[in-house]
Amino acid sequence: MKRITIAIDGFSSTGKSTLAKQLAKKLGYVYVDTGAMYRAVTYFAMQNNWVTENTLDKNSLINHLDEVHLKFHFNEALGFAEMFLNGVNVEQEIRTLEVSQNVSRVAEISEVRAKLVQQQQEMGRNKGVVMDGRDIGTVVFPNAELKIFMTASAETRAERRFNELIEKGQHVTFEDVLENVQQRDYIDTHRDDSPLVQAADAVVVDNSTLSKEEQFDVVLNLVNQYL
Ligand code: C5P
Repeated sequence: MKRITIAIDGFSSTGKSTLAKQLAKKLGYVYVDTGAMYRAVTYFAMQNNWVTENTLDKNSLINHLDEVHLKFHFNEALGFAEMFLNGVNVEQEIRTLEVSQNVSRVAEISEVRAKLVQQQQEMGRNKGVVMDGRDIGTVVFPNAELKIFMTASAETRAERRFNELIEKGQHVTFEDVLENVQQRDYIDTHRDDSPLVQAADAVVVDNSTLSKEEQFDVVLNLVNQYL
């Protein structure tokens, strides 16, 4: 069967990864969570004190970017790939609110983006990939056969992210999570390099009005038009 590239972009916590994982499983495709890559670079910078809530030492991070080795390892038991930074599983560490508070400022750095985009293009070279992020349909795979742009209200998204963090045992308030979601949206849509924009040929899926099942059916129907 023909294999295609599926690009899923959109704001924070719109349910991109849930949809992308479901699709990849159904189609037997590789799923790539590009947000995890930006989060891992951010975690690396935090370990070295190059980024805090109020500071960013861009040059030090850029000068040490060659020391960042990222790899996804598929975990059979969990059913998804976990992020490894320099051989260490950082899947838990990269999902904290602290990393979320710093990641969009790190993702503005062009050198960081160039490195990660190159790896992403390599991972999708043979098609049969579902990739989610902010610039997949516009920059990473502008020729992707299917582009989805996911939206939902900021409140719906913050509620989802808040519940996820609480489930993981993290101590956060709804207000902090909402503020973070809004801040990341602002930075992601206003940066100079590869801002989050809807590709002209993307199909919009609004997640505040559709259930997970309805959303999956809509997208699967779109996919089937290309196979
Ligand atoms: O997808 P997730 O919310 O985990 O992404 C974390 C952050 O990484 C985003 O808010 C954005 O700043 C950055 N990102 C990006 N480009 C991508 C994926 C994520 O700039 N392709």
